[in-house]
Amino acid sequence: MRVLITGVAGYIGSVVARTLLEGNLSVVGIDNLLFGGEGLTTIFTHPLFVFRRADLNDTALIRSLFETSQFDAVVHLAAIVGDPACRSQPDLAEAVNWTATVKLAAVASEHLVERFVFASTCSNYGASRGAETLMAEDAELRPVSHYATLKVRAEQHLLQRHLWPKDTFPVVLRFATAHGVSPRMRFDLTVNEFAAATAEGYPLDVYNPLSWRPYCHVADISRAIEKILFAPTSQVAFETFNVGDTTENYRKDAIVAAVVQRNSSATVRHLEGAADPRDYRVDFSKIARCLDFRCSRRVNDTIDQVSSMIEAGIFVDTKSWRYRNA
Ligand SMILES: NC(=O)c1ccc[n+]([C@@H]2O[C@H](COP(=O)([O-])OP(=O)(O)OC[C@H]3O[C@@H](n4cnc5c(N)ncnc54)[C@H](O)[C@@H]3O)[C@@H](O)[C@H]2O)c1
Repeated sequence: MRVLITGVAGYIGSVVARTLLEGNLSVVGIDNLLFGGEGLTTIFTHPLFVFRRADLNDTALIRSLFETSQFDAVVHLAAIVGDPACRSQPDLAEAVNWTATVKLAAVASEHLVERFVFASTCSNYGASRGAETLMAEDAELRPVSHYATLKVRAEQHLLQRHLWPKDTFPVVLRFATAHGVSPRMRFDLTVNEFAAATAEGYPLDVYNPLSWRPYCHVADISRAIEKILFAPTSQVAFETFNVGDTTENYRKDAIVAAVVQRNSSATVRHLEGAADPRDYRVDFSKIARCLDFRCSRRVNDTIDQVSSMIEAGIFVDTKSWRYRNA
């Protein structure tokens, strides 16, 4: 199987690429290296891997890739990622997360690529009063940011049946908030950020401690994508899956408590004012039932690993732009 991964140098993309290469799939990866190319260091010379530095909005170049390679699947991860990054660059976010996504899907369907796997987000559930209901895939979407609004628009566009010739189809994956170590590390994701801050001796700045959110290890997200690529068409065509594990929904104060348990010298500052109204608990029973998928790693595993790696001096300067999307 030959797979095109967009955003291959990113936090998730670099782990997905390695997972697929370990399974002997051919991978062509594209990325414009917004955060540098370190994510590719362990796979760059892999015999089954080809990297092209490319901007998704360069339609001629994207088209030429499809003309020279017959892809069986596209895993579309490239985006301006996260609420703060999309808020600070709204036009760029629209150009990448919407316009380029629509164009990429059109080129993929024109070239009869069987599977188009789209990275969406559980942020689409937005302000859903987390404690009360578990949000399944058919729940009402209530995006509260430009980032999630663009993801919802892209999902709705991609799932239109008339866009896809016979034997080709999209699959929408709504990832839980990722955590864990990746070759392109992100320290702006809650679990990674809190573990790093305490290990480096910074206070934990906590907003909205009672808000709920689901979490999923980046390696588990990659396993889920691999499963989607190999699943029978009848199980995944035109389907939407939440990607995570129902047991991995946490209130933010529970994450804080776990971090403090790992590092008892941590100081916590409860802050008010930064209004992020997101609050949702998510139901992951569909992916468990259809694809036999469950998370193999827990939030506590990452708190331990990130803390240990920082204590060992493996990451320095976790506040660097390389590790943060905004
Ligand atoms: N990390 C999470 O918690 C999370 C949760 C839900 C959904 N997602 C989705 O997963 C995908 C990957 O997220 P991530 O955490 O790896 O983010 P990331 O920012 O680490 O990776 C995105 C990659 O896309 C590349 N990119 C951006 N614009 C591009 C363009 N115009 N052309 C080519 N490449 C471009 C960047 O250089 C980067 O390497 C995104 O679609 C994101 O919305 C992530």
